[in-house]
Amino acid sequence: MYKVIVTDPISESGLKALTEHDAFQVEQRVGLEPEVLAEVIGDYDALIVRSQTQVTRDIIQAADRLKVIARAGVGVDNIDIDAATEKGIIVINAPAGNTIAATEHTLAMMLALARNIPQAYGSLTSGKWERKRFKGVELYQKTLGVVGMGRIGTEVAKRAKGFQMNILGYDPFLTEDRAKKLGIIKASLDDIAAQADFITVHTPLTPETRGLINAEYFEKTKKGVRFINCARGGIIDEQALVDAVNSGQVAGAAIDVFEHEPPETPGLTQNPRIIVTPHLGASTTEAQEKVAESVSEEIRDILTSGSVQHA
Ligand code: NAD
Ligand code: MLT
Repeated sequence: MYKVIVTDPISESGLKALTEHDAFQVEQRVGLEPEVLAEVIGDYDALIVRSQTQVTRDIIQAADRLKVIARAGVGVDNIDIDAATEKGIIVINAPAGNTIAATEHTLAMMLALARNIPQAYGSLTSGKWERKRFKGVELYQKTLGVVGMGRIGTEVAKRAKGFQMNILGYDPFLTEDRAKKLGIIKASLDDIAAQADFITVHTPLTPETRGLINAEYFEKTKKGVRFINCARGGIIDEQALVDAVNSGQVAGAAIDVFEHEPPETPGLTQNPRIIVTPHLGASTTEAQEKVAESVSEEIRDILTSGSVQHA
């Protein structure tokens, strides 16, 4: 019998490949303290997490029976990959299951930012009627800079074209040919700073992308630019963003992901020009089912026959 522990909220129906298989026993133990997880992890063959559980070296070192750590989502930055590799544990993710959910959340955030929807809702529900205060801007014929043209960046660019935005894409792997096929312009980060009215980031969080958008970058942008981050906290330096919004260089921002979750940077979540959601990019019924299905099927295949798809 293979034992699987699930430590973050995951779609139950998506886990069928394991829960309906005789060889697997699945235990949902959401919200365990790190010390408790380190104490119990030695009993399990597979661990399934989303982004809340921090799979640290201490936890991995105690995981003597563990063969797979599965991230039901894209980013594996909450897992100590080096420690897992040293211990011979396979780390897998579900790279495509939440692409559409994160894409649609990005578009929702861009529209909400452009039209001050969260602020207007807050005002009206607190009994006020303030039509002048919430005048917005249009997306039509504006320039959108997409930093990171992978799965989500590409889907965002395709949909933004539907609003008749001009799209500049920056990604080290974006070719002229691919940009042409997508109907966008291949650009540098500096081109995006000089031309974009909206800038959305869709890279992973790596040593290279941490603080990619920082105080120096804000100085190069057009005054009044708006930023969206539905990728990873830390790609945009939070303190520098708050300063740039407060100085008026940046007109506003829509942020779903934070350097620390829940967020800690002063002035970020209480700022009338910064709209925020609590890491909801992948939170749709459909996406949660797809990522749970993807990792459960892969865990089943790895443990029963040794085959690996998304390591
Ligand atoms: P992906 O791997 O398909 O695309 C990432 C792209 O970033 C790649 O094309 C890569 O070449 C590019 N990139 C890497 N370094 C770069 C750099 N320095 N400058 C520019 N581009 C760079 O990943 P994806 O599925 O599109 O996910 C994108 C991000 O969204 C990830 O950080 C992922 O964790 C995050 N995400 C967040 C949510 C959420 O809930 N908010 C949901 C899904 C994904
Ligand atoms: C991801 O990287 O897939 C997201 O952070 C989604 C999640 O919250 O699990």
